[in-house]
Amino acid sequence: SPFWAVVPAAGTGRRFGADQPKQFVRIGEQSVLAHTLQRLAAVPGLAGIVLVVADLADAGDWSQLAVPVVAVRGGAERADSVMAGLYWLVAEQGPDCWALVHDAARPGVRVADVVTLMDYCAAHDLGAILALPARDTIKTADAGAMVLETLPRDSIWLAQTPQCFRADQLLRALKEAAEQGLPVTDEASAMQAVGEPVQLIRGHWHNTKLTEPEDFPLIEWILSQHD
Ligand code: CTP
Ligand code: MG
Repeated sequence: SPFWAVVPAAGTGRRFGADQPKQFVRIGEQSVLAHTLQRLAAVPGLAGIVLVVADLADAGDWSQLAVPVVAVRGGAERADSVMAGLYWLVAEQGPDCWALVHDAARPGVRVADVVTLMDYCAAHDLGAILALPARDTIKTADAGAMVLETLPRDSIWLAQTPQCFRADQLLRALKEAAEQGLPVTDEASAMQAVGEPVQLIRGHWHNTKLTEPEDFPLIEWILSQHD
């Protein structure tokens, strides 16, 4: 079954704090979103991209890319935006296609890592996500930042995107999580909540998310590298 990317790009970028949402900020000649879409469009075998934006008037013209880009309107939370993309995908491309959900704010994603992810999903017929093993020792703490627990580092991974699942299964899991009021900050947590397995595929730190202003020079540098 075909692989489609779903790119949530409907956030406001509150923590980044620019005068426009961070995905529209320029790095070099192009917006963060353009860098992200170009990398995805370069993934061999990708059938198309569902771009989820707050306002369809800002969707842009992506007719130059190697794959079709369809724009749909997002929602209040990231999960709502992802669900909006999945509704289109399931309705127009069928329930069996794979959805590679990838943050617009991760322009440093590497084509080779996305290929590894897709190959795993296709070969095993299982959902999987890119992730990085934790380097630091991880603590849990109370509201006053007093340490509660130190977690065994060997078992800690940091989730990235793309996160790849069957479109209909993921849509059902996200709906279920929303109905139960579960806090869902990524697709994998919704799949886990309904008892589905999630495989971690080791990614690369270049695929970091533009979140705070201090991330900007780092991502500028990453995009200047040839990978
Ligand atoms: N996103 C979205 N719809 C939302 C919220 C977020 O499509 N309602 C997208 C963002 O545009 C981003 C990705 O989800 O590409 C990851 O979210 P995040 O980094 O949290 O972006 P923002 O929500 O825009 O930033 P902040 O949380 O700082 O406001
Ligand atoms: Mg957010």
